[in-house]
Parts: sequence; C-alpha cells; structure tokens
Amino acid sequence: MQTEVTTKLKMEGAHYIDASTKVYEEEENKVWAELYGTRMKTLPEQACAAYMEGLDKLEMPGHRVPLQEELSERLQKLTGWQMRAVDGFVPAQVFFDAFSRRTFPATVEVRPWEQLEYLQEPDVFHDVFGHLPMHTDPVFADFAQEYGILASSVDDEDRFDALGRLYWYTVEFGLIRQEGELKLYGAGLMSSFGEAANVFRGGPEIRPFDLDEVITTPFRIDIYQPLLFVIDGFEQLLEAVETLRKRWAQEDGQ
Ligand SMILES: [Fe+2]
Repeated sequence: MQTEVTTKLKMEGAHYIDASTKVYEEEENKVWAELYGTRMKTLPEQACAAYMEGLDKLEMPGHRVPLQEELSERLQKLTGWQMRAVDGFVPAQVFFDAFSRRTFPATVEVRPWEQLEYLQEPDVFHDVFGHLPMHTDPVFADFAQEYGILASSVDDEDRFDALGRLYWYTVEFGLIRQEGELKLYGAGLMSSFGEAANVFRGGPEIRPFDLDEVITTPFRIDIYQPLLFVIDGFEQLLEAVETLRKRWAQEDGQ
C-alpha cells in the first residue's frame, strides 16, 4: 500500500480473489527460486531477527511460489493474522479495514523475468516474501492492526498522508538497530536486493525514528530512498500509532 502513488499505478481498485485453485507455471516458480536464492545470499546478515525467524516459522519455500492457503494457515496459528489474495492495489479503505482485522491483502502474481530487481506494482515476492514474515512477530503484528484501526477512522487528507508516510518509512523501508547493528525490517528492502545493498553501502542518510519528521517527509517510489529512519524496537511503532490516535482525538475535541 503506497498512498501517494496508487493513482498512478495500474490495478488500482483491485479486489479480493479466490487463489485456492491457483497453479503456478514452471516459469513462475523459476522466477521465485531465482529471487529467493539471490536474496538469501545476503539477507541473513541484513535482516532483523524477527524477519529471519518469521521466514522459518512460515516455512517459506525457496524453490517454488508458496500458496496462499499454506502460509495463511501457518500465520494464523502464530499471531492470528491471515493472508488474503488480491489482484493488485486494493483501495486504501479496503486495505486499512483488512489490517484492522489482522488480514494482509497480498498479490499472488509473479513478476516477469525482465523486472526481477524492482517493480512499482506489488507482486507475490514483495507481498509474501517481503511482508508476511514480519507479521509473525507479536509486537509488529499488533502495531499493524492498530495502524489499520486508526487508519480506518481517518477521513482527512493530511492525516491520510501522514499515515501513508508512516507506513512507507516503517512497514516498507524501516530499519531497526539490534545489538548495535543496523538491520532491515521493511518489506521494500527485503524484496529488493539492490536497494538493501545500497543501505549497507551508506547510500541513504539514516536518522533515528522521529514520528513528526516521518509524517512530514514526502517520499518517491521511483528512486532509491535518500533518507531512512531507524527504530530501536517494534514497541516504538505501536507508540507512534498511539501518539497519533491521541493527538487527533484531542484535535477533534474528543
Ligand atoms: Fe509493500
């Protein structure tokens, strides 16, 4: 979900689909295996512990595209989240509502060979490999739900933008410091080996997570991120949502 760009991309207004009978072609499984193999060469050193444990807990397959049902079932047992298949970007309100119900709308289509590195539209590698493992972490899982609950109640463009930026700089491109080391937890970095490598090459400026700075910093999706924010723990994300909830309630005189 990328609120500042959805109107420019295809498949806006996508819907839930039934993926229970989906069968992947050999070519599609090859794309997945190639992406998985390439990414796993560096990810164990780059990714935060929760993500790596999440891959294990979900028994993420490396040689073929995972099926929605198997992952959703495993995830549900872990944190009560589930995955539902969609055919592209769902409208923001549908997306927020899904999050508030601990449901992750995920694309099940495989990206083409020509766009192995990065594409703006979501695909199964980004959505499933990039996002789902983090939802096995109990604190992150609660944060994502609280985010959905708050976002579902918002009906104001500025607040909507603030939430879009919070999502972008955390769920998509978030960094965390663990035992003094910089690690990735954002799905956009998990699914893009080029951009992840750039982070460790010192490409982006990295600042401590500051809610007000995050929600007032616009982003672009078509370049490597020039600025990223680092948290010290996932509790910080829960606190951020709570701060916004209280602030906006107060502004509304509630
Ligand atoms: Fe994403």
